Amino acid sequence: MRKTHTFSPFLGAFLLLFVVMLLSSTSEAPPRKFKFSKKVDTIVQSKCYGCHSEKGRGQKAKDKLMWDDLAGMSAQDRVKKMELIQAVVEKGAMPPKRMVERKPELKLTDKETKALKKWAKRHAKAK
Ligand code: HEC
Repeated sequence: MRKTHTFSPFLGAFLLLFVVMLLSSTSEAPPRKFKFSKKVDTIVQSKCYGCHSEKGRGQKAKDKLMWDDLAGMSAQDRVKKMELIQAVVEKGAMPPKRMVERKPELKLTDKETKALKKWAKRHAKAK
């Protein structure tokens, strides 16, 4: 009787530890693999990255979106960003009009718009 009495707290602690480990391993499951296709990457690099990355000079753009952070975000946060990206591409709001007026080469071509839209939509839906 005495033996089981001293043993059970250990077993209890061990079980608790096991359960905690199990729980934390599921909640920290890595987010769904997120990748840019070569096509999308090229578009982003040439048309968006100049502002939405460490290279960018304006803080506003960086606060809104950092391409390099997307892959490391939780799936939930990323979906929100992807929804924003989808929206600006659909509206033709990015790159900003004022910038495009100064640098027409930054404007997304129809093909690029299509590719970005498709990609953003797919990742905006992914939960
Ligand atoms: C010349 C700099 C510049 C370029 C290039 C640029 N952006 Fe932006 N972007 C901004 C700025 C500045 C803001 C913040 C606008 C604001 O808060 O009013 C912004 C905001 C955004 C937002 C957040 C919008 C929101 O409603 O919160 C998204 C998404 C975005 N840009 C996507 C893109 C994509 C996609 C591209 C490439 C196709 C791109 N941007 C290219 C400067 C840029």
